[in-house]
Amino acid sequence: NRKIYAALLGAGTVGSGVYKLAGMQEEDIFLKTGAHLEIKKILVRNSGKVREGIPQELFTDSWQEILEDPEIQIVIEVMGGIEPARTYVEEAMKAGKQVVTANKDLLAEYGDPLFEVATENKCDLQFEAAVAGAIPIIRPLRQSLAGSQLTEIMGIVNGTTNYILTKMSEEGMGYQEALDMATRLGYAEADPTADVEGYDAGRKIAIMASIAFSSRVTFPQVYTEGITKITAEDIRYAKEFGYVIKLLGITKLTGKGIEVKVHPTLIPDSHPLATVRDSFNAVFVHGQACDDAMFMGRGAGQMPTASAVLGDVIDVMRNIIHGSCGKIGSDSHKKLPVLDVED
Ligand code: NAP
Ligand code: HSE
Repeated sequence: NRKIYAALLGAGTVGSGVYKLAGMQEEDIFLKTGAHLEIKKILVRNSGKVREGIPQELFTDSWQEILEDPEIQIVIEVMGGIEPARTYVEEAMKAGKQVVTANKDLLAEYGDPLFEVATENKCDLQFEAAVAGAIPIIRPLRQSLAGSQLTEIMGIVNGTTNYILTKMSEEGMGYQEALDMATRLGYAEADPTADVEGYDAGRKIAIMASIAFSSRVTFPQVYTEGITKITAEDIRYAKEFGYVIKLLGITKLTGKGIEVKVHPTLIPDSHPLATVRDSFNAVFVHGQACDDAMFMGRGAGQMPTASAVLGDVIDVMRNIIHGSCGKIGSDSHKKLPVLDVED
């Protein structure tokens, strides 16, 4: 009865969801991997805070306690932000631990150096939950669709803004009320500015562009325009003319380089993307051989995100058991220019 120990960094919306789901799926995880998963420690800022359903003795505010515990083989980073997450992820890999993260802020700016550390230390660094919640999109881009030259990705990749636009359009709800609801439902970031200004979608499209075009696109290179200037009147006019407004992330491979942007877009209400409501996300991919492929599902929220995180953890457990950690290296081999959006 083999046991694999993990530590969670964070017990907020996602972290507490991962803990809960790992408990619910305990037997299933064993059937899938041949090992039991035990969350041994949980790093939080406030280790004295009582959190429903999680034993108090698991909490710590000491990263060293986790780093120096040789039994802990997997670090699940769901605390968010750049620092100290970046340092912890790097130190974990240098100590030979495998890492699963949902942190798009980190990957969209420091993905390259972190993947180098993963390669050097033969570690897994998995991040399916960082883009579009429960939708499998990272593995399809890296693996299933890798035989096709991909040329375009377009999608609704932020659940909070899609929820806000849906509520404003279908129920006449005010912007602030809809944002407050999205926050209560666990869709929004700790600072929802990232959602409504398009930064979160920008980070996700940068990550997807990097993988799809085997290049390196970082968040500061993405043109972003959010939904804060969209009024109820804009939505009403769009509707009158048979359109809906959606916040789209778009990236294209052109003869000159990579175009990558996020902005509100008018979509005919007959288009499949117009039917993507609430916190759902959808990603269209076009490639020369595969033609069109579309992925749709819950893009945000506790359990959909926990599902993607736990899927990565199960994959890492299998890799640990079969001695195949760190087999997938960095994708960024080309250095294609990222174009100004006006180009
Ligand atoms: P959250 O609710 O704000 O939770 C963050 C957790 O991390 C809290 O438990 C907090 O501890 C802990 N934490 C933060 N900074 C820390 C530090 N310096 N030291 C120790 N602990 C620290 O955030 P979340 O919504 O769960 O999101 C977590 C990550 O998942 C983010 O990268 C986010 O972008 C990503 N993500 C979220 C969703 C979603 O739907 N929410 C979906 C996909 C990806 P305290 O509780 O003590 O404050
Ligand atoms: N705040 C993000 C969203 C969470 O609303 O899509 C999922 O990445």
